[in-house]
Amino acid sequence: MKLIILGPPGAGKGTQAAKIAERYSLAHISTGDMLRAEIALKTPLGLKAKTLIDAGELVPDDVIIDMVKARIAQPDCVNGFLLDGFPRTVEQAQALLTFTELDSAISIDVPDEAIVDRMQKRRVCGSCRRTYTSDELSAAYIVDGCTWRRAQYCVACGAELAVRDDDKPETVLHRLKVYKEQTLPLIDFFTERGLLTTVDGNGSVDSVAQSIFNILDR
Ligand code: AP5
Repeated sequence: MKLIILGPPGAGKGTQAAKIAERYSLAHISTGDMLRAEIALKTPLGLKAKTLIDAGELVPDDVIIDMVKARIAQPDCVNGFLLDGFPRTVEQAQALLTFTELDSAISIDVPDEAIVDRMQKRRVCGSCRRTYTSDELSAAYIVDGCTWRRAQYCVACGAELAVRDDDKPETVLHRLKVYKEQTLPLIDFFTERGLLTTVDGNGSVDSVAQSIFNILDR
């Protein structure tokens, strides 16, 4: 399968993409994660991207298109891939269809209020990048009994949890604006090509995943 997952910032694309990739043995390609890896390595691309990401702006189309084109040419994509966070503009979508076919585009729909709330609560491991829901942090609090300490460290690798630089409330609002102006037109783009299915992203992580599996299993 060659899939894309669309949705506003914080809709749960990354969370669901991990589950989909595991179930269908697909390469999970997150352009946000790829850019954050460049930032961590302090490459020229990473340094340029950091300024844009922290401001809630998109990285230029040509840079991202080249990055994705090279990535899906890798051997692990031969049996299928899931693009998470790409395409994000009509220009990116048009370019994508020049170098690959697509089987399906899943759009996750979540209202703005829920997104702002999720982003305020999101914590990410500073080392392995595992993302935590507020429920998971609360669960860690109860299980350990040493609430405030336990919830600040990653259960997978033990590194400290952090707030993403682009999750500041004012940046989140700007990212939503950018999404509506530049990415929302992709809903029509993929609908016109018969590829789009929308799921309600406002349920639990598992119930949203089940809705997506029901679509993809068909
Ligand atoms: P990217 O990392 O892709 O950010 P994004 O699209 O804004 O999406 P997020 O990662 O913020 O959220 P998500 O939808 O993956 O939600 P998540 O699963 O984490 O990109 C970052 C930046 O890189 C962009 O702003 C841009 O600058 C640049 N960039 C990337 N790709 C680009 C491109 N193609 N072109 C140009 N620039 C590009 O969930 C969010 C939170 O909610 C988490 O805490 C999670 O645990 C929780 N959660 C998830 N599902 C649920 C649920 N059902 N119920 C309750 N909580 C939930």
